[in-house]
Amino acid sequence: MSPLPPGAYRPSTDRWGTFARLAKGLPEGSIAVVDRTVAKLHPTLLPTLASRNPRAIIQLTGGESAKTFTALEKVLASSLALPRSGTLLAVGGGTIGDVSTVAAHVLKRGVRLVQVPTTLLAAVDSSVGGKGAVDMTVRGRVVKNPAGVFHYADVGWVCPEFFDTLSDAQRREGALEAWKMVVSLDAPLFRRYVRKPPAMEKLVKDARAIKERVCAEDPYEQAGLRRVLNFGHTFGHVLESVSHFKLAHGDGVGLGMLLALDVGRHLGVTPEPVAAEVEAALAQGPGVLGRERAAALLRRAPMKDIRALLTADKKAGAKGELRMVLLTGIGTTEVRDVTEPEWRALWPAWTKGVRP
Ligand SMILES: NC(=O)c1ccc[n+]([C@@H]2O[C@H](COP(=O)([O-])OP(=O)(O)OC[C@H]3O[C@@H](n4cnc5c(N)ncnc54)[C@H](O)[C@@H]3O)[C@@H](O)[C@H]2O)c1
Ligand SMILES: [Zn+2]
Repeated sequence: MSPLPPGAYRPSTDRWGTFARLAKGLPEGSIAVVDRTVAKLHPTLLPTLASRNPRAIIQLTGGESAKTFTALEKVLASSLALPRSGTLLAVGGGTIGDVSTVAAHVLKRGVRLVQVPTTLLAAVDSSVGGKGAVDMTVRGRVVKNPAGVFHYADVGWVCPEFFDTLSDAQRREGALEAWKMVVSLDAPLFRRYVRKPPAMEKLVKDARAIKERVCAEDPYEQAGLRRVLNFGHTFGHVLESVSHFKLAHGDGVGLGMLLALDVGRHLGVTPEPVAAEVEAALAQGPGVLGRERAAALLRRAPMKDIRALLTADKKAGAKGELRMVLLTGIGTTEVRDVTEPEWRALWPAWTKGVRP
């Protein structure tokens, strides 16, 4: 294990292999937070963990409801006996990873964290980069991630066997987040992916490497360099929220990328051919949902709710403008403060489900 204090930035170290093999490296007396669904689908998971004599195995139901103060308290309450030198292992998708990251940060003022992503989305994105958060409810609507921390994992275990039980939709959601990084940060890779969509393990390796590259330059998001990772997230989070999280995060980000391309074109930041090429690639590669899905959600939601969600979003600027990541080309971005009249001009097309 690393000599750095628990949670401090370190370049991500990945270990690939079966869970049974990697678990042999888990210190005895650790705490494990496990997605209950994953434990059911992979019956050897809990016995493997139990053989390492953990202090506790805490099962949570994966999904946005895992990112609440109630779930966090459950993890903390079961982890009181963990010494400061102890390790917390998070086995699950992004929601389990996020709440576990917060728990690892506050437990004994910081314990070591090991991330075991079991969804493609967690493998390509959320289990790298040190961020964790829980959600809060504002005016009856869930606002994502306002209470969060930076707490880097010591190591990530990538166990491809877990991905065998993912549905097509879950694979699509993860692929969309991975393509987000490729589209906004790596033009040569984008060209390769367009020619031939990558196999899943390649997608995971590439996305983790791209994300690590960005985080290494700006581990605590102070220089603003990490903002590029929010491409597609401004309206993506709104869509997720107004759907009451029936729309999955990755699908929200997929549609959010289309809306960000529209904003970019409208402001003259994203050239039309770039927007068209990216939109086509997202449809053919990961399979972004159709614009009519975004339209149905936006039509239903009162404008005051949309506004409240956008202002509550931690990416909003000082005067309420939306601090959005826009593409200037494939693999290059610019951060723009977008005013309400600017994005409202696109509303009629967005609520009809057509490209403005
Ligand atoms: N911290 C970050 O940097 C970061 C980045 C991106 C996303 N996120 C967060 O991640 C969350 C989304 O992650 P997610 O999509 O993994 O969500 P999730 O954790 O809710 O998992 C999605 C569903 O898949 C199930 N599941 C998990 N592993 C499975 C497996 N191997 N087989 C079958 N089903 C499985 C879960 O039980 C859940 O129902 C969001 O809350 C998002 O805000 C965080
Ligand atoms: Zn995301």
